[in-house]
Amino acid sequence: MLKNWWYCAGWDHELSLGKDALLARRIAGESIVLYRKPNGGVVAMEDRCCHRQTALSCGRKEGDSLRCMYHGWKFGPDGRCIEIPGQERIPQEACVRSFPVVEKDNWIWVWMGDPIKADPALICFAVGPGDPAWNIKTSQLRVDANYRQEIANLSDLSHVAWVHDQTFGGTNAWSTVKSKHTLRPRGLDTETWLRGVPAVRFVQHLFPVGTLVDMCFDVQMTLPCNFIMHLKIFSAGSNTEGPSDGQLLLDTYSCQAITPRDEDSVDYYYSWGASRETDSPGMTDLLHEVIGVAFLEDKRILEAQHQRMKEKPDFRTIDYIHDAGPGKLLWLLDKFLKEEAAEQASVVEG
Ligand code: FES
Ligand SMILES: [Fe+2]
Repeated sequence: MLKNWWYCAGWDHELSLGKDALLARRIAGESIVLYRKPNGGVVAMEDRCCHRQTALSCGRKEGDSLRCMYHGWKFGPDGRCIEIPGQERIPQEACVRSFPVVEKDNWIWVWMGDPIKADPALICFAVGPGDPAWNIKTSQLRVDANYRQEIANLSDLSHVAWVHDQTFGGTNAWSTVKSKHTLRPRGLDTETWLRGVPAVRFVQHLFPVGTLVDMCFDVQMTLPCNFIMHLKIFSAGSNTEGPSDGQLLLDTYSCQAITPRDEDSVDYYYSWGASRETDSPGMTDLLHEVIGVAFLEDKRILEAQHQRMKEKPDFRTIDYIHDAGPGKLLWLLDKFLKEEAAEQASVVEG
């Protein structure tokens, strides 16, 4: 998996000072423990005591430090051992790996590679629940699938018509529409307009029967697997391209950070909500409820697919027109994976 990248470790409220929480996460194949210092800053270190590999997440927070509760070794926020009960000498190498952390848009981001390269400007754009212009609610989910499947699923929304027939679906225009994909240096933008169609199913009851709308799904995906969707619903206008000239009925943002735990599972941190301007009583609750149901629909499909893929890893699959988005983004992922592998090999040789 990519190393010199930011990975989401969860929502900021999961690390409240009040609860003194130690958060155990698996991120890109590494076990990580996170905690919040009294000054509010977040520490991330390997969840593995350098004495006998006990999980530090079974330990105890002591001010800025973390104590392993097996034999009591204590580690500072930089991972250095600062106390060994019963022994005065602290070996130089008694150190746990620590990772750069940034909090942004109410997400906690951890840099899994070389700390020198940890540039916060590389964290993807998002709209968090703390943004005053939006009413956003958050949640999270574990999916037992490979993150490449998530990339493919999110960069091809044509599955909405089938997987999400009872939630985000309601029109099979998804099958015939052409999305516009634009590759960025570290991700893919996909714009999809559905015009003169029934609204997504879960809001159809808000409009008179037979109402048609224009919908714009503006998606920014950033590797490793972050998905930001700006969904706007307008009354059906007359424009056949470019922005809709209908009236803006609902303006929403859904921000989703999918963190690979290992090859077989991901942690999914997601949100959805409406702009304050277009929100109405209960709307954000409805969005939150429906996205929860929809993600269980994805989970069911992706977990079953993952099992089949593991049974026959060399099975030859067949591409079709809607595989363009997944093809581009997985190509970009593979390019970065190759670059990192080559860099790693040159460091080992050098
Ligand atoms: S395993 Fe942590 S102190 Fe012994
Ligand atoms: Fe989906």
